[in-house]
Amino acid sequence: MKALVYQGPGQKDWVEKDKPEIQKPTDVIVKVTKTTICGTDLHILKGDVPAVTPGRTLGHEGVGVVEAVGSAVQNFEPGDAVLISCVTSCGKCDNCKRQLYAHCADGGWILGHLIDGTQAEYVRIPHGDNSLYPIPEGADEEALVMLSDIMPTGLEIGVQYGNVKPGDTITIIGAGPVGMSVLLTAQFYSPGRIVMIDMDPARLELAKQFGATDTIQVGVGDPVAQIMEMTGGRGVDVAIEAVGVPATFDICQKIVSAGGNIANVGVHGKSVELHIEELWIKNINISMGLVSTNTTPMLLKMLANSKVNPGRLVTHRFALDDILTAYDVFGNAAREKAMKVILNA
Ligand SMILES: NC(=O)c1ccc[n+]([C@@H]2O[C@H](COP(=O)([O-])OP(=O)(O)OC[C@H]3O[C@@H](n4cnc5c(N)ncnc54)[C@H](O)[C@@H]3O)[C@@H](O)[C@H]2O)c1
Ligand SMILES: [Zn+2]
Ligand SMILES: [Zn+2]
Repeated sequence: MKALVYQGPGQKDWVEKDKPEIQKPTDVIVKVTKTTICGTDLHILKGDVPAVTPGRTLGHEGVGVVEAVGSAVQNFEPGDAVLISCVTSCGKCDNCKRQLYAHCADGGWILGHLIDGTQAEYVRIPHGDNSLYPIPEGADEEALVMLSDIMPTGLEIGVQYGNVKPGDTITIIGAGPVGMSVLLTAQFYSPGRIVMIDMDPARLELAKQFGATDTIQVGVGDPVAQIMEMTGGRGVDVAIEAVGVPATFDICQKIVSAGGNIANVGVHGKSVELHIEELWIKNINISMGLVSTNTTPMLLKMLANSKVNPGRLVTHRFALDDILTAYDVFGNAAREKAMKVILNA
């Protein structure tokens, strides 16, 4: 079979590889029908995630059809259509019992990281019973691919950790696929005002179509001054960071209101300066974390009832064989006006 393989920093290839086989009784082999590329894959290719070693197949998102199941698998059989979660979980360990699947004792984010991932014709999913979801009849499969990672990330780490409430004024910094997922899922809780911040005017325009009430373009406007003016000097109830650099976490610290929340979603490679001398008196909360995908069942219901349409995030489609072109487009997102790309096997 063919697979997109990491060959060391800056190097990737679409190569012939052995088809994965059942290794443990709880494994499921899935024939991938649709997958995508995540910003995290670009981080890996830059060499930012040294745990990924040369020869690893990338990818942690997708949908497919069950090809084979291990002897202990109870929920799936060959031919079943499934959604693949980016987080693998046994469902039995202490952390899984608290729905903290990100920290499963025999799982977590391992796909396309510590084991071979979904950017291939076939993928082995450990603990298939708990790490796969049946695809509802007639579902929009492109929209479902958004439920592998970005939608639960936005909902869990941005919206739920940030405790977004009806009527709140919230700010989302970063209008990439993850920030957009925060924007879509925040609306489940009816915030009064949603201010989106980015430097890319095309992404801000899209954010308005997706429900942002206000936008601020970094480099043109001054986000802190503008937010303070908008809120009568009060600041925002929830400041959500969806970029992963010190500058944007710093904006969150300056715009959070008394009693508010800073929810950090971005993956950071550098330390940030925590202004505890300003913040201690403000009764705020700061949260951060890795997605657990424990909200996937809720998102599946929202999708089935047309309460959210993450398929709108898809801007480009390619054949799986053209994945190197898809990487080029996704890696130049501003130039290509790309948000999410779909690869069809
Ligand atoms: N916590 C988790 O479990 C989890 C899961 C998935 C992704 N992430 C992280 O979420 C972050 C966002 O992911 P993404 O795929 O949307 O990334 P992305 O790179 O596609 O989007 C980031 C956006 O931020 C904007 N931006 C960059 N610098 C900025 C600045 N100084 N001010 C304002 N905007 C700025 C860019 O224009 C872009 O639109 C990344 O750090 C990613 O690694 C976290
Ligand atoms: Zn991802
Ligand atoms: Zn577990």
